Amino acid sequence: MTEPVAFPQDRTCPYHPPTAYEPMARPLSRVALFDGREVWVVTGHSVARELLVDQRLSSERDRHGFPIPSARFAGIRDRSAALLGVDDPKHNTQRRLLIPSFTLKRTAALRPQIQQTVDRLLDAMVAQGPPAELVSAFALPVPSMVICALLGVPYEDHDFFEAQSRRLLRGPEAADTLDARDQLEAYFGTLIDRKQKEPGDGLLDELIHEQLREGTVDRAELVSLATILLVAGHETTANMISLGTFTLLRHPERLAELRTEPALIPTAVEELLRFLSIADGLLRVATEDIEIAGTTIRADDGVVFSTSVINRDANAFTEPDTLDWHRSARHHLAFGFGIHQCLGQNLARAEMEIALRTLFERLPGLSLAAPADEIPFKPGDTVQGMLELPVTW
Ligand code: HEM
Repeated sequence: MTEPVAFPQDRTCPYHPPTAYEPMARPLSRVALFDGREVWVVTGHSVARELLVDQRLSSERDRHGFPIPSARFAGIRDRSAALLGVDDPKHNTQRRLLIPSFTLKRTAALRPQIQQTVDRLLDAMVAQGPPAELVSAFALPVPSMVICALLGVPYEDHDFFEAQSRRLLRGPEAADTLDARDQLEAYFGTLIDRKQKEPGDGLLDELIHEQLREGTVDRAELVSLATILLVAGHETTANMISLGTFTLLRHPERLAELRTEPALIPTAVEELLRFLSIADGLLRVATEDIEIAGTTIRADDGVVFSTSVINRDANAFTEPDTLDWHRSARHHLAFGFGIHQCLGQNLARAEMEIALRTLFERLPGLSLAAPADEIPFKPGDTVQGMLELPVTW
């Protein structure tokens, strides 16, 4: 028996799965978490799809055996989390409230507003530069402004909630994560009270006036939903924009192809989602024994899904380590699969398409303003992306 690989680990290159994951067998393997506990890691695409729709895997974090990937995560383990942390039927009730706001049609209607936001941010960046730091000037404010408008959260508060989201997702200590979560929940508690007195526009207002009043959701649930939507709605897409830009700049031939044929951008976004797999390490626990791929996952066993490895499975994608705009990558698992599959995926796609297309159209000479191997990126125990992205044009 070989020693189980430690999970999660830092990437060695920001756009490839950690090289330390190479010994992990497909489709299932064992990994050791930070506290030494061993859990299953799913690495094969078809087994991942099968397991992600299996109701014998639970997302409830306080269940016995739920995998704890870091000391930081242990701090919030016992705190309920709407949607992501609940199973059906409760999950279904919560998700149904939100689905109408995230349909393809509703998201398409937001495109002009997303375009305006992107244009304004690029105007400001161009007026001040070159050079610029692309994460703070562009990649983060685009999704942050968009999710604020969608929810009805004042963007003036962005310094506060961006800082708390950062602490929530990246520690450093378990106490930071817990405190960040408390601060975000207190913020939404106050905002909901204010909106009850002075209604405004946005999804939160709709939920307050249609669901809270009717008793379909309670206040604590609404606070938890708002926190998840705000955090998931800006951090993830910001990372895709920054890491997507870095990856394009490191693949000049692929970038040139997009420049000559902009109609490829939607498939390029899909391929970047697959290739970068920024949400790497979905967490579940088995509630019963599950026979799969000639193995038995026992009740109470922890299961993690390494999306970066799954999305490089050669049985699902030919030449998986090559960035290729002409493949159909739509069956990637970068947005998860099954009941928890990303609620904001249509919005994220629209934001990425508009942000990347406009950035490279407006700044055809965009390049890195520091040596690529000196630009810092995020550690392996959080959503992957660039910590900074110095650029010039
Ligand atoms: C490119 C950007 C994004 C990526 C890569 C991403 C990735 C993911 C993944 C992998 C999951 C599934 C987690 C699991 O199964 O445990 C998820 C769920 C979720 N995402 Fe996203 N996401 C992105 C953008 C967004 C945006 C813009 C929103 C907007 C609100 C959002 C809201 C959510 C929510 C609410 C869930 C939980 C859904 C549920 O449990 O039913 N995400 N996302």
